[in-house]
Amino acid sequence: MKPVPEWATKQYPNIEIPVQINKLNIQGDSSDYHVLWNAAQKIKGVDGLILEIGVRLGMGTFTIMNSCLANDDKHRRYFGIDCYGDIRKQYSNKLKIHAKYNLMAFAAMNEQDFTLLEMEDFEFFNRFADGIPIYERKIWETNQYTPEDYEWKDIVNKYALVHIDGPHRMQDVIDESEFFLPRIPVGGVVIYDDIDKYKKKYNHDEYEPTILEQGFEMIEKCGSKVSYVRVKEHD
Ligand SMILES: C[S@@+](CC[C@H](N)C(=O)[O-])C[C@H]1O[C@@H](n2cnc3c(N)ncnc32)[C@H](O)[C@@H]1O
Repeated sequence: MKPVPEWATKQYPNIEIPVQINKLNIQGDSSDYHVLWNAAQKIKGVDGLILEIGVRLGMGTFTIMNSCLANDDKHRRYFGIDCYGDIRKQYSNKLKIHAKYNLMAFAAMNEQDFTLLEMEDFEFFNRFADGIPIYERKIWETNQYTPEDYEWKDIVNKYALVHIDGPHRMQDVIDESEFFLPRIPVGGVVIYDDIDKYKKKYNHDEYEPTILEQGFEMIEKCGSKVSYVRVKEHD
């Protein structure tokens, strides 16, 4: 056994560690990130969470967060769902540590709130079907405390923006859409990734009419990505 460090023997230890962040390294594995940027520009004033399925090294969430920041859309909660788990070499748990470090650091440097939920998409659906608990006093709306600000807990089950970029089999994308589309309010957006890559196991063109039937309109389709905005209330 190693000896207990001296600081751990003190009451109320308080340690200052000098930190120097040299650089963050955010990487993507796709193209056409401008589709994400443009979609995020549309959601200012739309209530709801921002969520990405399939985070990898963070370029998707990074692009969305930057777009919201550039739009002065600052009071957002960002969630990423990704199991990593060494399911493939390029989605390893080592990579997860890099993703966490880079995204958390970037978010914190910009006073933004990002949470990585380390689980598969269907685990999320089973556990968060009734929403995600959000603890927040909205003093930023008024800049002073009012009695309403003390209603500080919300179970939020609405999504202003969803980026679908996890597993790319047809049934996975359908399950994800069935979960998220009804939870997107009017003005909210959804972006699908890799629509041009896996034609055999995932044919987005076949599924698109179902998205449109549910009250969405296409914003933009370019290369690997397509975005839609909800224009009609969900039935
Ligand atoms: C294409 S990468 C995401 C790229 C990222 N959005 C970007 O823009 O750079 C796909 C990610 O989905 C994750 N993934 C695969 N199957 C998943 C599942 N069933 N649930 C959650 N995440 C999954 C993988 O671990 C991987 O990190």
